[in-house]
Order: sequence, then structure tokens, then C-alpha cells
Amino acid sequence: MNILVTGAAGFIGFHTSLFLLKNHSVYGIDNLNSYYEPSLKKNRLKILKGFSNFKFYKTDIQNKNLLKKFKNINFDLIINLAAQAGVRHSLKDPYAYIDSNILGQINMLEFAKTHRVKKFIYASSSSVYGGNKKMPFSIKHRVDNPVSLYAASKKSTELLAECYSHLFKINCIGLRFFTVYGPWGRPDMATFIFTKKILEKKKINIFNYGKMQRDFTYIDDIIQGISGAVNLKCDVSHRIYNLGNSNPEILEQFIAIIEKNLKVKAKKNLLPMQPGDVEKTFADISESKKDLNFNPKTKITEGIPKFISWYKDYYKI
Ligand SMILES: NC(=O)c1ccc[n+]([C@@H]2O[C@H](COP(=O)([O-])OP(=O)(O)OC[C@H]3O[C@@H](n4cnc5c(N)ncnc54)[C@H](O)[C@@H]3O)[C@@H](O)[C@H]2O)c1
Repeated sequence: MNILVTGAAGFIGFHTSLFLLKNHSVYGIDNLNSYYEPSLKKNRLKILKGFSNFKFYKTDIQNKNLLKKFKNINFDLIINLAAQAGVRHSLKDPYAYIDSNILGQINMLEFAKTHRVKKFIYASSSSVYGGNKKMPFSIKHRVDNPVSLYAASKKSTELLAECYSHLFKINCIGLRFFTVYGPWGRPDMATFIFTKKILEKKKINIFNYGKMQRDFTYIDDIIQGISGAVNLKCDVSHRIYNLGNSNPEILEQFIAIIEKNLKVKAKKNLLPMQPGDVEKTFADISESKKDLNFNPKTKITEGIPKFISWYKDYYKI
């Protein structure tokens, strides 16, 4: 297949492209923005560029002339992973979320419509569950109470996909990722921040006094779920799935495993809940198991050492 992957230089986009390159031609798009260190994005790209069936385009998914670049390629599938990520940053820079996530999604859906691409997979997020208290979070629950602009932008991407699949018969699959971690992970996320700061003997900020719970999901498991979505023969127009470990971890225990693996004690700065954050995430994955063959296996006791080993190797520590 010819597959267009947006956000290919990003954490999940890189691993997705790497996986797809085993069997498909991948056309990667990324604007390589500086939300976090661009060198990490460029180094991920260096690996992808080693494959002859990978082509990269440095461009923005908001670019309405995107189509012109790909006039002669027939795409079988679009995977839209490019986005402005990060819950806390959305309080500081709301427009980045409207631009990349909402305008970006509609532009990619327009692209799919005009280019007659039959299937469209896109990244949503566990954040759409907002302040929901009913656990585990099920795709059957209503998601009408986002508690951050990031969450509101992701819910918007789902509504746009629903509308386009209805109007133009595009098969859309939205994947709600739950706190993904692993090698080549994002520098603005907990696993990376804690590892870096603990090694540098700096204080780490721990919100909700460490009582927060997150359904940490290892990248290889996420890729298995994405692979299930790629292979899914859809007869309906729009489906949404949770991709989470379905096993929430208490933050202070998560940190204890990082400390144990680094053999360094963390200096902790215990803080209250932050605006935009939720206390707990927990994925109900019954539909993902059934339809996508999604079967997350990686416990944090296995995943964290793999991340740390990559981190030490990458930063030559
Ligand atoms: N990592 C997680 O835990 C997580 C959880 C829930 C949802 N998601 C979603 O999954 C997707 C991938 O996340 P990630 O963790 O790989 O993030 P990431 O920031 O590492 O990757 C996103 C990539 O998209 C690129 N990008 C951003 N805006 C763009 C634009 N307008 N045009 C072109 N490229 C652009 C960035 O340069 C980056 O390389 C995102 O949609 C994110 O919101 C991630």
C-alpha cells in the first residue's frame, strides 16, 4: 500500500512508519516544529530515511496546497498523527491546538476526499474523557466535558471525522491513545522528564501529591493496535477505539520504578493538581481487543527499563 503518515518525525509517527515500512511505501509529512528538541525529530527521520520505500516532505498539514505535492501518488490510507500535543501547554498557547489539530484534521480530511483515499486513521486521545468519573473509560461513554483545550481539540477531530465519513463515505478510525511511553519518547512527557531530572539530580514536580493514576501504555503495544486498525476491514464509516494498557498505575509507584532502575533517589516537589489535568485514566479495551486484536502486554516494570536503556544510549550517559 501507499500510506501517508503525518507527524512521521514525532514519537508515535516514527514508530508507526518504521513498522509500516516492512510491507508498504510510506510518505511521511512533518513540519519539524520546535515544541521540543527538533534534533530528536531529525534523528528519528535519519533512521526512516535509511529505507528506500520512505519519502519525507517537510511541510505543514495546514497547507491547503498539500495536494499539489502528491498529485501523482494514489494513497490507500492516510494516518494523521501530526498534532500539537501536550495538555498543560494548551493553556499557554491555545491557537497552536486550533491550527495543527483542528485545521490540520479538516485539511487532511479534505485531502482524503479530493484524493479519493478510502481509509483515514487519526490520533485522538484519552483526554477526551475529561472529568468523567465512570471507570474504565469506555467508547460508549459520552465525552462532552473536556477539561483542557487539548482535549477539546481532540474531541473536535472526532466530530470532523464523523461528519466527513458520513458525507463522503471515507472509512475513518479514531484511536484514543493513553499516555504512550517508550524509546524515542516525547521530552515533554512524564517518563522522559522524570528520567532526565533524576539523573541530573534536579527536583521533579509531582502533581496531585503523587496520587494521580495513568494508564501508561508501551509504544510496541500501541503499534500493535495501529496495525490492527490498518488491517481492519471496515464496513461502517467511523469507528473509535481506546488504545490503553487497561491497567492504571499510581504516579508515585511509577516514579519508584524509575528510581529503582536508575539506582538514584528522586528529589520530589509535591504539588496540587494542575488545571487541565485529570486524576485518573483507565481504558476499557473490549472493542479494541475484539476488532483490532489489541492485546497490550508490557508492564511498566518491563517498559521503563527499555526506555531508560534507550535514553542512556541516545544521550551517551
Ligand atoms: N504520546 C501520547 O501519549 C499521546 C496520547 C494521546 C494522543 N496522542 C496523539 O498522538 C499523536 C502523536 O503524538 P506523539 O506523542 O507522537 O507527539 P509528537 O509531538 O512527538 O509528534 C507529533 C509530530 O507532528 C508534527 N507536527 C505538529 N504540528 C504539525 C503540523 N501542523 N504540520 C505538520 N507536522 C506537525 C510535530 O513536529 C511532531 O513531530 C498526536 O496527535 C497526539 O496528540 C499522543
